[in-house]
Amino acid sequence: MKIDLEQISLSDQAPSAEPQRQYYFMARAREHVRGLEKKLGRRPVCCVTTFGCQMNARDSEKLVGILETVGYEITENENADFVIFNTCTVRDNANQRVYGRLGALNGYKRRNPHMKIALCGCMMQESAVIDKLKKSYGFVDLIFGTHNIYKFAELLTACFEREGMVIDIWQDTDKIVEDLPVERKYPFKSGINIMFGCNNFCSYCIVPYVRGRERSREPGDIIREIEELVADGVIEVMLLGQNVNSYGKNLKNPTTFAQLLRQVEKIEGLKRIRFMTSHPKDLSEELIQVMKESNKICRHLHLPLQSGSTKILKGMNRCYTKEQYLELALRIRKEIPDISLTTDIIVGFPGETMEDAEDTMDVIRKVKYDNAFTFIYSKRTGTPAAAMENQVAKEQVKEAFDRVLKAVQETAKEQAARYQGQIQEALVEEINENDPTLVTGRLSNNMLVHFPGGASLIGQLVRVSLDQCHGFYYMGRMV
Ligand code: SAH
Ligand code: SF4
Ligand code: F3S
Repeated sequence: MKIDLEQISLSDQAPSAEPQRQYYFMARAREHVRGLEKKLGRRPVCCVTTFGCQMNARDSEKLVGILETVGYEITENENADFVIFNTCTVRDNANQRVYGRLGALNGYKRRNPHMKIALCGCMMQESAVIDKLKKSYGFVDLIFGTHNIYKFAELLTACFEREGMVIDIWQDTDKIVEDLPVERKYPFKSGINIMFGCNNFCSYCIVPYVRGRERSREPGDIIREIEELVADGVIEVMLLGQNVNSYGKNLKNPTTFAQLLRQVEKIEGLKRIRFMTSHPKDLSEELIQVMKESNKICRHLHLPLQSGSTKILKGMNRCYTKEQYLELALRIRKEIPDISLTTDIIVGFPGETMEDAEDTMDVIRKVKYDNAFTFIYSKRTGTPAAAMENQVAKEQVKEAFDRVLKAVQETAKEQAARYQGQIQEALVEEINENDPTLVTGRLSNNMLVHFPGGASLIGQLVRVSLDQCHGFYYMGRMV
Protein backbone atom coordinates (compact mmCIF):
# COMPACT_ATOMS: atom_id res chain seq x y z
CA MET A 1 0.00 0.00 0.00
CA LYS A 2 1.37 3.42 -0.94
CA ILE A 3 0.39 6.43 1.16
CA ASP A 4 0.89 9.93 -0.21
CA LEU A 5 2.64 11.72 2.64
CA GLU A 6 2.94 14.91 0.52
CA GLN A 7 -0.79 15.51 1.07
CA ILE A 8 -0.32 15.77 4.83
CA SER A 9 0.14 19.21 6.37
CA LEU A 10 2.49 19.12 9.34
CA SER A 11 1.37 22.56 10.50
CA ASP A 12 -1.98 20.98 11.41
CA GLN A 13 -2.46 19.11 14.68
CA ALA A 14 -2.20 15.34 14.62
CA PRO A 15 -5.63 13.84 13.82
CA SER A 16 -7.10 11.62 16.53
CA ALA A 17 -8.63 8.96 14.24
CA GLU A 18 -6.59 5.93 13.12
CA PRO A 19 -4.97 5.17 10.77
CA GLN A 20 -4.88 8.87 9.71
CA ARG A 21 -3.04 9.76 12.88
CA GLN A 22 -0.24 7.34 11.99
CA TYR A 23 -0.03 8.69 8.42
CA TYR A 24 0.49 12.13 9.95
CA PHE A 25 3.33 10.82 12.14
CA MET A 26 4.87 9.02 9.18
CA ALA A 27 5.08 12.39 7.43
CA ARG A 28 6.63 13.91 10.53
CA ALA A 29 9.11 11.07 11.06
CA ARG A 30 10.08 11.41 7.41
CA GLU A 31 11.14 15.01 8.03
CA HIS A 32 13.45 13.78 10.78
CA VAL A 33 14.89 11.05 8.56
CA ARG A 34 15.49 13.64 5.82
CA GLY A 35 17.30 15.82 8.34
CA LEU A 36 19.46 12.87 9.35
CA GLU A 37 20.20 12.12 5.69
CA LYS A 38 21.54 15.68 5.24
CA LYS A 39 23.68 15.36 8.33
CA LEU A 40 25.12 11.96 7.38
CA GLY A 41 25.47 12.73 3.67
CA ARG A 42 23.85 9.36 2.84
CA ARG A 43 20.54 7.62 3.17
CA PRO A 44 19.98 6.39 6.76
CA VAL A 45 19.77 2.61 7.09
CA CYS A 46 17.74 0.54 9.51
CA CYS A 47 17.66 -3.09 10.59
CA VAL A 48 14.68 -5.07 11.90
CA THR A 49 15.60 -8.29 13.74
CA THR A 50 12.83 -10.75 14.50
CA PHE A 51 12.74 -13.33 17.28
CA GLY A 52 9.90 -15.81 17.78
CA CYS A 53 6.97 -16.98 15.75
CA GLN A 54 5.24 -16.22 12.45
CA MET A 55 3.07 -13.67 14.20
CA ASN A 56 6.19 -11.71 15.10
CA ALA A 57 7.55 -12.13 11.59
CA ARG A 58 4.36 -10.57 10.24
CA ASP A 59 4.58 -7.73 12.77
CA SER A 60 8.14 -7.09 11.62
CA GLU A 61 6.88 -6.69 8.05
CA LYS A 62 4.64 -3.94 9.37
CA LEU A 63 7.63 -2.26 11.06
CA VAL A 64 9.61 -2.49 7.81
CA GLY A 65 6.65 -1.03 5.89
CA ILE A 66 6.64 2.03 8.11
CA LEU A 67 10.44 2.41 8.21
CA GLU A 68 10.57 2.36 4.41
CA THR A 69 7.69 4.81 4.16
CA VAL A 70 9.52 7.31 6.37
CA GLY A 71 12.68 7.06 4.28
CA TYR A 72 15.01 4.44 5.73
CA GLU A 73 16.82 1.93 3.61
CA ILE A 74 16.55 -1.61 4.98
CA THR A 75 19.71 -3.57 5.79
CA GLU A 76 20.39 -6.89 7.50
CA ASN A 77 23.42 -5.42 9.26
CA GLU A 78 22.74 -4.48 12.88
CA ASN A 79 25.40 -1.75 12.74
CA ALA A 80 22.75 0.63 11.38
CA ASP A 81 21.28 4.08 12.10
CA PHE A 82 18.10 2.56 13.52
CA VAL A 83 17.85 -0.97 14.89
CA ILE A 84 14.75 -2.59 16.28
CA PHE A 85 14.48 -6.01 17.93
CA ASN A 86 11.03 -7.57 17.77
CA THR A 87 11.29 -9.89 20.73
CA CYS A 88 9.86 -13.23 21.88
CA THR A 89 9.54 -14.50 25.44
CA VAL A 90 7.95 -17.93 24.96
CA ARG A 91 11.03 -19.68 26.38
CA ASP A 92 13.83 -18.25 28.47
CA ASN A 93 16.50 -18.82 25.79
CA ALA A 94 14.63 -16.37 23.54
CA ASN A 95 15.09 -13.69 26.21
CA GLN A 96 18.74 -14.51 26.76
CA ARG A 97 19.45 -14.10 23.07
CA VAL A 98 17.96 -10.60 23.12
CA TYR A 99 20.11 -9.51 26.04
CA GLY A 100 23.19 -10.95 24.37
CA ARG A 101 22.56 -9.15 21.10
CA LEU A 102 21.79 -5.88 22.92
CA GLY A 103 25.33 -5.92 24.27
CA ALA A 104 26.69 -5.88 20.70
CA LEU A 105 24.38 -2.97 19.78
CA ASN A 106 25.75 -0.96 22.67
CA GLY A 107 29.22 -1.36 21.16
CA TYR A 108 28.02 0.01 17.80
CA LYS A 109 26.25 2.90 19.45
CA ARG A 110 29.34 3.99 21.33
CA ARG A 111 30.99 4.52 17.96
CA ASN A 112 27.87 6.05 16.32
CA PRO A 113 26.13 8.10 19.01
CA HIS A 114 23.34 9.12 16.60
CA MET A 115 22.28 5.46 16.37
CA LYS A 116 18.82 4.67 17.74
CA ILE A 117 17.93 1.35 19.35
CA ALA A 118 14.35 0.16 19.79
CA LEU A 119 12.78 -2.91 21.37
CA CYS A 120 9.26 -4.19 20.91
CA GLY A 121 7.28 -7.42 20.97
CA CYS A 122 6.26 -9.98 23.53
CA MET A 123 9.18 -9.70 25.94
CA MET A 124 8.41 -6.00 26.47
CA GLN A 125 5.02 -6.89 27.98
CA GLU A 126 6.78 -8.24 31.08
CA SER A 127 7.35 -5.67 33.79
CA ALA A 128 10.46 -7.42 35.10
CA VAL A 129 12.05 -7.01 31.67
CA ILE A 130 11.25 -3.29 31.57
CA ASP A 131 12.77 -2.84 35.04
CA LYS A 132 15.93 -4.60 33.96
CA LEU A 133 16.21 -2.54 30.76
CA LYS A 134 15.73 0.71 32.64
CA LYS A 135 18.35 -0.26 35.16
CA SER A 136 21.06 -1.79 33.00
CA TYR A 137 20.35 -0.93 29.36
CA GLY A 138 19.98 2.84 29.45
CA PHE A 139 21.29 3.15 25.88
CA VAL A 140 17.96 1.85 24.49
CA ASP A 141 15.96 4.72 22.96
CA LEU A 142 12.49 3.28 22.43
CA ILE A 143 10.47 0.48 24.04
CA PHE A 144 6.92 -0.52 23.18
CA GLY A 145 4.84 -3.69 23.38
CA THR A 146 2.53 -5.86 21.33
CA HIS A 147 -0.75 -3.97 21.74
CA ASN A 148 0.39 -0.61 20.40
CA ILE A 149 2.60 -1.68 17.51
CA TYR A 150 0.23 0.15 15.17
CA LYS A 151 1.52 3.37 16.85
CA PHE A 152 5.08 2.74 15.66
CA ALA A 153 5.22 5.85 13.44
CA GLU A 154 4.11 8.02 16.36
CA LEU A 155 6.60 6.43 18.75
CA LEU A 156 9.41 6.75 16.23
CA THR A 157 8.63 10.44 15.94
CA ALA A 158 8.72 10.77 19.73
CA CYS A 159 12.08 9.05 19.72
CA PHE A 160 13.45 11.81 17.43
CA GLU A 161 11.80 14.65 19.36
CA ARG A 162 12.34 13.62 22.98
CA GLU A 163 15.42 13.10 25.12
CA GLY A 164 15.90 9.83 26.99
CA MET A 165 14.17 6.48 26.78
CA VAL A 166 10.66 6.53 25.29
CA ILE A 167 8.56 3.76 26.86
CA ASP A 168 4.97 2.95 25.95
CA ILE A 169 3.51 -0.35 27.12
CA TRP A 170 -0.20 -1.18 27.22
CA GLN A 171 -1.70 -3.93 29.31
CA ASP A 172 -4.28 -4.96 26.71
CA THR A 173 -6.35 -3.60 23.86
CA ASP A 174 -9.56 -4.35 21.99
CA LYS A 175 -8.41 -2.29 19.03
CA ILE A 176 -7.42 -3.56 15.57
CA VAL A 177 -6.07 -0.82 13.29
CA GLU A 178 -6.33 -1.62 9.57
CA ASP A 179 -4.62 -0.12 6.51
CA LEU A 180 -1.08 0.52 7.67
CA PRO A 181 1.81 -0.04 5.27
CA VAL A 182 3.43 -3.50 5.18
CA GLU A 183 6.55 -4.56 3.31
CA ARG A 184 6.60 -8.32 2.85
CA LYS A 185 9.71 -10.42 2.79
CA TYR A 186 8.66 -12.58 -0.18
CA PRO A 187 6.84 -11.06 -3.17
CA PHE A 188 4.89 -14.29 -3.83
CA LYS A 189 3.77 -15.37 -0.35
CA SER A 190 2.53 -13.65 2.74
CA GLY A 191 1.29 -14.18 6.28
CA ILE A 192 -2.08 -12.63 7.17
CA ASN A 193 -3.23 -12.08 10.72
CA ILE A 194 -6.76 -13.34 11.10
CA MET A 195 -6.82 -12.94 14.86
CA PHE A 196 -4.70 -11.61 17.68
CA GLY A 197 -4.16 -12.77 21.26
CA CYS A 198 -5.12 -16.00 22.96
CA ASN A 199 -7.74 -17.04 25.52
CA ASN A 200 -6.57 -20.57 26.21
CA PHE A 201 -4.18 -20.06 29.10
CA CYS A 202 -2.27 -23.30 28.73
CA SER A 203 -0.64 -23.38 32.16
CA TYR A 204 2.98 -23.24 30.89
CA CYS A 205 2.43 -20.50 28.32
CA ILE A 206 3.10 -16.79 28.56
CA VAL A 207 1.49 -15.84 25.25
CA PRO A 208 -1.97 -14.94 26.66
CA TYR A 209 -0.28 -12.55 29.12
CA VAL A 210 1.84 -10.79 26.53
CA ARG A 211 -0.54 -10.86 23.55
CA GLY A 212 -3.78 -10.18 25.40
CA ARG A 213 -7.27 -11.49 24.79
CA GLU A 214 -8.40 -13.09 21.58
CA ARG A 215 -9.65 -10.67 18.91
CA SER A 216 -10.67 -11.71 15.39
CA ARG A 217 -10.48 -9.47 12.35
CA GLU A 218 -13.62 -9.00 10.28
CA PRO A 219 -13.80 -11.53 7.42
CA GLY A 220 -14.33 -8.66 4.97
CA ASP A 221 -11.06 -6.99 6.03
CA ILE A 222 -9.18 -10.28 5.71
CA ILE A 223 -10.59 -11.04 2.26
CA ARG A 224 -9.87 -7.50 1.06
CA GLU A 225 -6.28 -7.72 2.29
CA ILE A 226 -5.75 -11.06 0.54
CA GLU A 227 -7.30 -9.75 -2.68
CA GLU A 228 -4.92 -6.80 -2.60
CA LEU A 229 -1.98 -9.13 -1.98
CA VAL A 230 -3.02 -11.37 -4.87
CA ALA A 231 -3.26 -8.32 -7.12
CA ASP A 232 0.30 -7.56 -6.02
CA GLY A 233 1.64 -11.00 -6.97
CA VAL A 234 0.99 -13.18 -3.93
CA ILE A 235 -0.08 -16.77 -4.70
CA GLU A 236 0.30 -18.37 -1.25
CA VAL A 237 -1.08 -17.08 2.04
CA MET A 238 -0.59 -18.27 5.61
CA LEU A 239 -3.52 -17.37 7.87
CA LEU A 240 -2.11 -16.60 11.30
CA GLY A 241 -3.52 -16.90 14.81
CA GLN A 242 -2.58 -18.59 18.10
CA ASN A 243 -5.64 -20.78 17.74
CA VAL A 244 -7.22 -20.34 14.32
CA ASN A 245 -9.88 -22.92 15.18
CA SER A 246 -11.56 -20.46 17.49
CA TYR A 247 -11.54 -17.71 14.84
CA GLY A 248 -14.66 -15.57 14.60
CA LYS A 249 -16.30 -16.51 17.90
CA ASN A 250 -16.14 -12.95 19.24
CA LEU A 251 -17.23 -11.14 16.06
CA LYS A 252 -20.50 -9.19 15.88
CA ASN A 253 -21.64 -11.73 13.30
CA PRO A 254 -19.89 -14.88 14.46
CA THR A 255 -18.20 -16.88 11.68
CA THR A 256 -16.27 -20.14 11.89
CA PHE A 257 -12.74 -20.68 10.66
CA ALA A 258 -14.04 -23.23 8.16
CA GLN A 259 -16.43 -20.60 6.75
CA LEU A 260 -13.59 -18.11 6.46
CA LEU A 261 -11.51 -20.71 4.59
CA ARG A 262 -14.38 -21.26 2.15
CA GLN A 263 -14.37 -17.53 1.38
CA VAL A 264 -10.60 -17.37 1.01
CA GLU A 265 -10.71 -20.37 -1.32
CA LYS A 266 -12.90 -18.37 -3.73
CA ILE A 267 -10.31 -15.64 -4.26
CA GLU A 268 -9.27 -15.86 -7.87
CA GLY A 269 -5.55 -16.01 -8.54
CA LEU A 270 -4.75 -17.32 -5.07
CA LYS A 271 -3.15 -20.74 -5.42
CA ARG A 272 -2.26 -21.97 -1.94
CA ILE A 273 -3.67 -21.51 1.55
CA ARG A 274 -1.88 -22.43 4.77
CA PHE A 275 -2.79 -21.68 8.38
CA MET A 276 -1.25 -21.85 11.81
CA THR A 277 -1.90 -22.85 14.61
CA SER A 278 -4.74 -25.29 15.24
CA HIS A 279 -5.63 -26.16 18.81
CA PRO A 280 -6.85 -29.78 18.85
CA LYS A 281 -9.69 -29.00 21.28
CA ASP A 282 -11.38 -26.66 18.77
CA LEU A 283 -10.75 -28.50 15.52
CA SER A 284 -14.14 -29.07 13.91
CA GLU A 285 -15.46 -31.77 11.61
CA GLU A 286 -16.42 -28.90 9.29
CA LEU A 287 -12.73 -27.93 9.03
CA ILE A 288 -11.71 -31.47 8.09
CA GLN A 289 -14.34 -31.49 5.37
CA VAL A 290 -13.31 -28.07 4.02
CA MET A 291 -9.69 -29.21 3.90
CA LYS A 292 -10.63 -32.43 2.21
CA GLU A 293 -12.68 -30.73 -0.50
CA SER A 294 -10.31 -27.85 -1.10
CA ASN A 295 -7.97 -27.52 -4.07
CA LYS A 296 -6.03 -24.71 -2.47
CA ILE A 297 -5.59 -25.60 1.20
CA CYS A 298 -2.19 -27.19 1.54
CA ARG A 299 -1.81 -30.80 2.64
CA HIS A 300 -0.28 -29.83 5.96
CA LEU A 301 -1.74 -29.51 9.42
CA HIS A 302 0.23 -28.39 12.45
CA LEU A 303 -1.57 -29.90 15.43
CA PRO A 304 0.32 -29.25 18.67
CA LEU A 305 0.23 -32.23 21.01
CA GLN A 306 2.40 -30.81 23.83
CA SER A 307 2.20 -34.10 25.74
CA GLY A 308 0.81 -37.56 25.18
CA SER A 309 0.02 -38.11 28.84
CA THR A 310 -3.55 -37.34 29.91
CA LYS A 311 -2.31 -36.47 33.39
CA ILE A 312 0.20 -33.93 32.04
CA LEU A 313 -2.32 -32.57 29.52
CA LYS A 314 -4.65 -31.88 32.41
CA GLY A 315 -1.91 -30.02 34.27
CA MET A 316 -1.20 -28.10 31.09
CA ASN A 317 -4.89 -27.11 30.78
CA ARG A 318 -4.98 -28.35 27.20
CA CYS A 319 -8.58 -29.61 27.49
CA TYR A 320 -8.11 -32.95 25.69
CA THR A 321 -6.96 -36.44 26.66
CA LYS A 322 -4.43 -38.69 24.98
CA GLU A 323 -7.28 -40.75 23.53
CA GLN A 324 -9.18 -37.72 22.21
CA TYR A 325 -6.06 -36.40 20.50
CA LEU A 326 -5.28 -39.78 18.96
CA GLU A 327 -8.82 -40.22 17.75
CA LEU A 328 -8.71 -36.79 16.09
CA ALA A 329 -5.28 -37.20 14.50
CA LEU A 330 -6.04 -40.66 13.16
CA ARG A 331 -9.41 -39.50 11.80
CA ILE A 332 -7.62 -36.72 9.91
CA ARG A 333 -5.06 -39.22 8.58
CA LYS A 334 -7.93 -41.41 7.36
CA GLU A 335 -9.96 -38.59 5.79
CA ILE A 336 -6.98 -36.89 4.12
CA PRO A 337 -4.36 -39.63 3.59
CA ASP A 338 -1.81 -37.44 1.80
CA ILE A 339 -1.76 -34.86 4.63
CA SER A 340 1.41 -34.11 6.52
CA LEU A 341 0.87 -33.83 10.29
CA THR A 342 3.35 -31.87 12.38
CA THR A 343 3.33 -30.97 16.04
CA ASP A 344 4.88 -29.22 19.04
CA ILE A 345 5.96 -31.19 22.08
CA ILE A 346 7.11 -29.99 25.49
CA VAL A 347 9.30 -32.29 27.58
CA GLY A 348 9.81 -31.73 31.29
CA PHE A 349 6.54 -30.11 32.32
CA PRO A 350 6.16 -30.17 36.15
CA GLY A 351 5.30 -33.63 37.40
CA GLU A 352 6.32 -35.41 34.19
CA THR A 353 7.70 -38.92 34.78
CA MET A 354 9.39 -41.24 32.32
CA GLU A 355 6.04 -43.02 32.07
CA ASP A 356 4.42 -39.78 30.88
CA ALA A 357 7.18 -39.34 28.32
CA GLU A 358 6.45 -42.90 27.17
CA ASP A 359 2.86 -41.83 26.53
CA THR A 360 4.17 -38.98 24.39
CA MET A 361 6.33 -41.41 22.42
CA ASP A 362 3.36 -43.70 22.03
CA VAL A 363 1.36 -40.90 20.39
CA ILE A 364 4.33 -40.02 18.18
CA ARG A 365 4.54 -43.60 16.93
CA LYS A 366 0.80 -43.92 16.39
CA VAL A 367 0.28 -40.59 14.63
CA LYS A 368 3.59 -40.88 12.77
CA TYR A 369 4.35 -37.17 12.69
CA ASP A 370 5.93 -35.88 9.53
CA ASN A 371 7.86 -33.44 11.69
CA ALA A 372 7.80 -32.08 15.23
CA PHE A 373 9.30 -29.25 17.23
CA THR A 374 10.41 -30.62 20.57
CA PHE A 375 11.01 -28.13 23.37
CA ILE A 376 12.38 -28.45 26.86
CA TYR A 377 9.90 -26.96 29.31
CA SER A 378 10.89 -23.43 30.27
CA LYS A 379 9.53 -21.86 33.44
CA ARG A 380 7.77 -18.58 32.63
CA THR A 381 7.20 -16.27 35.59
CA GLY A 382 3.54 -15.48 36.13
CA THR A 383 2.18 -18.66 34.53
CA PRO A 384 0.43 -21.25 36.75
CA ALA A 385 2.99 -23.96 35.87
CA ALA A 386 5.86 -21.83 37.18
CA ALA A 387 4.32 -22.01 40.65
CA MET A 388 3.90 -25.80 40.56
CA GLU A 389 6.07 -27.55 43.12
CA ASN A 390 7.01 -30.69 41.22
CA GLN A 391 9.46 -29.14 38.72
CA VAL A 392 11.48 -31.89 37.05
CA ALA A 393 15.25 -32.31 37.53
CA LYS A 394 17.40 -31.29 34.56
CA GLU A 395 19.04 -34.72 34.07
CA GLN A 396 15.70 -36.50 33.86
CA VAL A 397 14.40 -33.95 31.36
CA LYS A 398 17.49 -34.39 29.23
CA GLU A 399 17.05 -38.14 29.07
CA ALA A 400 13.35 -37.93 28.20
CA PHE A 401 14.04 -35.19 25.66
CA ASP A 402 16.62 -37.30 23.81
CA ARG A 403 14.27 -40.26 23.66
CA VAL A 404 11.32 -38.18 22.45
CA LEU A 405 13.50 -36.52 19.83
CA LYS A 406 14.67 -39.90 18.59
CA ALA A 407 11.07 -41.13 18.27
CA VAL A 408 10.19 -38.00 16.28
CA GLN A 409 13.15 -38.42 13.96
CA GLU A 410 12.24 -42.02 13.26
CA THR A 411 8.64 -41.31 12.25
CA ALA A 412 9.63 -38.20 10.32
CA LYS A 413 12.17 -40.15 8.29
CA GLU A 414 9.72 -42.91 7.56
CA GLN A 415 7.00 -40.43 6.58
CA ALA A 416 9.25 -38.38 4.33
CA ALA A 417 10.14 -41.45 2.30
CA ARG A 418 6.54 -42.04 1.30
CA TYR A 419 6.69 -39.43 -1.50
CA GLN A 420 9.67 -41.06 -3.22
CA GLY A 421 9.22 -41.07 -7.00
CA GLN A 422 6.07 -38.92 -7.00
CA ILE A 423 5.51 -35.86 -9.11
CA GLN A 424 4.28 -32.90 -7.09
CA GLU A 425 3.81 -29.19 -7.41
CA ALA A 426 6.43 -27.02 -5.69
CA LEU A 427 6.43 -23.27 -5.11
CA VAL A 428 9.95 -22.07 -5.86
CA GLU A 429 11.06 -19.85 -2.98
CA GLU A 430 14.74 -19.11 -3.51
CA ILE A 431 18.08 -20.01 -4.97
CA ASN A 432 19.56 -22.86 -2.94
CA GLU A 433 21.71 -21.52 -0.12
CA ASN A 434 24.59 -23.95 -0.72
CA ASP A 435 24.46 -24.56 -4.45
CA PRO A 436 23.54 -21.66 -6.77
CA THR A 437 22.72 -24.02 -9.65
CA LEU A 438 19.75 -25.30 -7.62
CA VAL A 439 16.51 -23.70 -6.50
CA THR A 440 14.50 -24.57 -3.39
CA GLY A 441 10.79 -25.18 -3.62
CA ARG A 442 8.13 -25.97 -1.05
CA LEU A 443 5.65 -28.77 -1.53
CA SER A 444 2.04 -28.54 -0.46
CA ASN A 445 2.93 -30.73 2.55
CA ASN A 446 5.55 -28.13 3.59
CA MET A 447 8.58 -30.29 2.69
CA LEU A 448 11.40 -28.72 0.72
CA VAL A 449 12.71 -29.97 -2.60
CA HIS A 450 15.94 -28.83 -4.25
CA PHE A 451 16.34 -29.09 -8.02
CA PRO A 452 18.28 -27.54 -10.91
CA GLY A 453 16.89 -24.15 -11.94
CA GLY A 454 17.47 -20.42 -12.01
CA ALA A 455 16.19 -17.20 -10.44
CA SER A 456 13.47 -16.78 -13.07
CA LEU A 457 11.58 -19.66 -11.41
CA ILE A 458 11.27 -17.88 -8.05
CA GLY A 459 7.62 -17.36 -7.16
CA GLN A 460 6.39 -19.95 -9.64
CA LEU A 461 4.56 -23.21 -9.10
CA VAL A 462 6.32 -25.95 -11.02
CA ARG A 463 5.96 -29.72 -11.27
CA VAL A 464 8.85 -31.60 -9.77
CA SER A 465 9.78 -35.25 -9.67
CA LEU A 466 10.80 -36.23 -6.13
CA ASP A 467 13.77 -38.41 -6.97
CA GLN A 468 15.78 -38.79 -3.80
CA CYS A 469 14.64 -38.50 -0.21
CA HIS A 470 17.27 -37.08 2.16
CA GLY A 471 15.38 -37.38 5.41
CA PHE A 472 13.73 -34.00 5.70
CA TYR A 473 13.97 -32.88 2.08
CA TYR A 474 14.08 -34.16 -1.48
CA MET A 475 16.41 -33.75 -4.39
CA GLY A 476 14.42 -33.64 -7.60
CA ARG A 477 14.06 -32.31 -11.11
CA MET A 478 11.47 -30.31 -12.98
CA VAL A 479 9.25 -32.29 -15.32
N1 SAH B 1 -0.60 -21.09 19.95
C1 SAH B 1 0.22 -22.16 19.57
C2 SAH B 1 1.62 -22.15 20.12
C3 SAH B 1 2.35 -20.90 20.41
S1 SAH B 1 3.87 -21.08 21.25
C4 SAH B 1 -0.44 -23.42 20.04
O1 SAH B 1 -1.22 -23.44 20.94
O2 SAH B 1 -0.11 -24.43 19.49
C5 SAH B 1 4.70 -22.32 20.28
C6 SAH B 1 5.08 -23.52 21.05
O3 SAH B 1 6.00 -23.19 22.06
C7 SAH B 1 3.97 -24.22 21.81
O4 SAH B 1 3.21 -25.05 21.00
C8 SAH B 1 4.71 -24.98 22.87
O5 SAH B 1 5.06 -26.26 22.41
C9 SAH B 1 5.96 -24.16 23.06
N2 SAH B 1 5.95 -23.52 24.37
C10 SAH B 1 5.10 -22.59 24.83
N3 SAH B 1 5.40 -22.27 26.11
C11 SAH B 1 6.48 -23.02 26.45
C12 SAH B 1 7.25 -23.15 27.64
N4 SAH B 1 6.97 -22.46 28.73
N5 SAH B 1 8.30 -24.02 27.63
C13 SAH B 1 8.58 -24.74 26.53
N6 SAH B 1 7.88 -24.66 25.40
C14 SAH B 1 6.83 -23.81 25.35
FE1 SF4 C 1 -0.04 -20.60 24.44
FE2 SF4 C 1 -1.92 -22.42 24.62
FE3 SF4 C 1 -2.50 -20.00 23.63
FE4 SF4 C 1 -1.00 -21.68 22.23
S1 SF4 C 1 -3.15 -21.98 22.80
S2 SF4 C 1 -0.61 -19.52 22.58
S3 SF4 C 1 0.16 -22.74 23.80
S4 SF4 C 1 -1.90 -20.47 25.72
FE1 F3S D 1 7.14 -15.63 21.02
FE2 F3S D 1 5.29 -13.84 21.19
FE3 F3S D 1 5.24 -15.57 19.22
S1 F3S D 1 6.18 -14.91 22.89
S2 F3S D 1 6.21 -17.35 20.10
S3 F3S D 1 6.78 -14.05 19.56
S4 F3S D 1 3.49 -14.71 20.28
